[in-house]
Amino acid sequence: MKPNLNVNFAGIKLKNPVLSASGTFGYGYELADLIPLKKIGAIITKTITFEPRPGNPQPRIAEVEGGMLNTIGLQNIGVKAFVGDPLEKLAKIGVPVFVSVAGHSLEEYAQSAKVLSSYKEISAIELNLSCPNLKKKIVCHDLPLTADVIKSVKKISKVPVIAKLSPLVADIAELSLAAQNAGADGVTIANTYPAMAIDVKTFKPKLSTVKGGMSGPCIKPMSVRAVYDAYPVLKIPILGCGGITSGQDAVEFMLAGAAAVSVGSASLVSAQNIIKIIDGIEKILAEKNISSAAALTGKINQAVNIC
Ligand SMILES: Cc1cc2nc3c(=O)[nH]c(=O)nc-3n(C[C@H](O)[C@H](O)[C@H](O)COP(=O)(O)O)c2cc1C
Repeated sequence: MKPNLNVNFAGIKLKNPVLSASGTFGYGYELADLIPLKKIGAIITKTITFEPRPGNPQPRIAEVEGGMLNTIGLQNIGVKAFVGDPLEKLAKIGVPVFVSVAGHSLEEYAQSAKVLSSYKEISAIELNLSCPNLKKKIVCHDLPLTADVIKSVKKISKVPVIAKLSPLVADIAELSLAAQNAGADGVTIANTYPAMAIDVKTFKPKLSTVKGGMSGPCIKPMSVRAVYDAYPVLKIPILGCGGITSGQDAVEFMLAGAAAVSVGSASLVSAQNIIKIIDGIEKILAEKNISSAAALTGKINQAVNIC
């Protein structure tokens, strides 16, 4: 029998648990000529801010062993332009659309949420809480600000609000719980890891902003650990993210506690990868005679005592 890949994520029915991660899939519709977008569980757009942003100067990307660094700087067309043609094209694909939103201040998050709230084509808002605030501090490194951003967007939004968290915090369970208590309907664990690289031929940093975010296979074990730590304290679902390149990686995140996963850098390597990951999950379920993907969440076989 064919395994059932459907999952329910924060009340949203997904045909499978694989989403495109923000910023690595354009606004979502641009890949239509390369892959059957209809096969994806849901599309998460690149992060949108209230005003358009040009992003950071080049170089904005650098390869490192096992992954990559980026400092795109939230380049985007701004929320008012997004709800025009891009949203119309996205809606035609026929999969749920999660819009990623960021801001430098609580007010900026709320302003964008207000514009988005009148569009029924949007299934969820993912709050990118890993961007710097006006004092150059990462939003989700400030627990009270994180809670306030979530509360203010929840007041406005008619759709589920997912808090995307930075993994570089002392206690990811505490941060996830704060997001849940503020009203988040789900959490994404996790965004990139702060990192840097220097070219030893020129002695120059490889990124224009010196530091950026690390992603790709090298971060996977750290993000799986973060999901595993947050899962026991949460009632809301986790969207696992970090270094997923295969069905096996996706299943690993789900066994650690994720209800669904999002695929980032792997889509930059090849647009086909996200489809291969969906097929890979199905193959593993069939081989193991597991009837549904939803049954994987938190089912790590933990025979040893943990200290
Ligand atoms: C080039 C690039 C751009 C990204 N842009 C965003 C973004 O706009 N918003 C966001 O929340 N995350 C962004 N991310 C982070 C990814 O969504 C994802 O959380 C992270 O890369 C870890 O997953 P991965 O290892 O599968 O890439 C970006 C990542 C990359 C590589």
